[in-house]
Amino acid sequence: MTNDYDLLEEQIAALLADETDFIANAANASAALYHGLSDVNWVGFYFADREGLVLGPFQGRPACTRLPRGRGVCGAALTRGQTVIVDDVAAFAGHIVCDPASQSEIALPLCRDGSAIGVLDLDSPLKGRFTLRDAAALERIAARFLSATSFP
Ligand code: SME
Repeated sequence: MTNDYDLLEEQIAALLADETDFIANAANASAALYHGLSDVNWVGFYFADREGLVLGPFQGRPACTRLPRGRGVCGAALTRGQTVIVDDVAAFAGHIVCDPASQSEIALPLCRDGSAIGVLDLDSPLKGRFTLRDAAALERIAARFLSATSFP
């Protein structure tokens, strides 16, 4: 486990190359990230619907199926349209606990044609796990996912 984002990006690009289905691509992207990064205990997607966010493909322990609109770290990323890094989830007002082992988190909005359609979310059992370097690399990976994938 090297956190070699160049290699991870290449692997994910290869996984997405011949497929456009959003479930297949979200499933493989979350699996590649979960197994390719150190110190993560959950990696997955939430997709927007009328009420908020609904759970998509992920790796890790079973998670909250629905996140109310604008709530939690994921809701903040979606509403702001910006990546949110939380060094200590206990200090983030409104954080939604799915796995009590999670100590820090990064959530990236997935924006398509000007609207936020979902979130890529990663949790770590360590405080302060996610840096601006992680954010930049994960934003590139999220952009690859979006451009490779068709949504219903
Ligand atoms: N902690 C998130 C909820 C999703 S789980 O971490 C998988 C949040 O506050 O939005």
